[in-house]
Amino acid sequence: MQARIDEIAEGIFRLSVHVPDIAPPAGFTFNHFLVMGDEPLLFHTGLRRMFPLLRDAVARLIPPERLRWISFGHYEADECGAMNEWLAVAPNALVAHGQTGALVSLNDMADRAPRVLQDQEAIDIGGRRLRYIDTPHIPHGWDAGVLMDDASGTLLCGDLFTQLGDGPALTTGDIVGPAIQAEDLFRYSSLNPRMGATIRRLAELAPKRLALMHGPSFEGDGAAALRALADDYDRRMRGDLGALAA
Ligand SMILES: [Fe+2]
Ligand SMILES: [Fe+2]
Repeated sequence: MQARIDEIAEGIFRLSVHVPDIAPPAGFTFNHFLVMGDEPLLFHTGLRRMFPLLRDAVARLIPPERLRWISFGHYEADECGAMNEWLAVAPNALVAHGQTGALVSLNDMADRAPRVLQDQEAIDIGGRRLRYIDTPHIPHGWDAGVLMDDASGTLLCGDLFTQLGDGPALTTGDIVGPAIQAEDLFRYSSLNPRMGATIRRLAELAPKRLALMHGPSFEGDGAAALRALADDYDRRMRGDLGALAA
């Protein structure tokens, strides 16, 4: 088994692993993004048991020990299960995450103290800057956040827009419909009253590209896709509140 590697934006490589046994027959895809710079950053470490596969994939692009930054959406096995394996192979690497992630999990769970990013703080990886944005509980996890590469207009949006299957690396097609289907199936999001507003704030970034953790990367009007997703979560909230009141 090998990860499939595609460059979805200049210097941003998608390392994709499809697992047919999860949610068959479509299966489920795990994507990890290596962002190139003088200090390369990996967004999503991969599951702990997937580490050898990911290490080999990264090694096709850079010597793994050159990795400098490890970041991810929130503390969960597929997002960061292999962080300590990465810290072990890359002696200069640090985990970079938000204040909540550090306080709640990473100060204890990461083998080296993390670099703590404030909301909207940019991390300079040498040649490009990635902005960290807090999105608490969205789509799940108190510590949840995303990274925005302003230069290429790419939003590393983690579990937002999760879908099933093994699609193309990059699509210009619909990603909202498949995300609604996956939400109906998994119920993976922590529905909360701020959800629509927080996702609409991401739309203000006007991303040209959305790098999904579970699904193809999307190229096109990212703001429109985010607003449509926000509308669907608002609809779900209204439905759930209506059902509770009935
Ligand atoms: Fe997650
Ligand atoms: Fe995930």
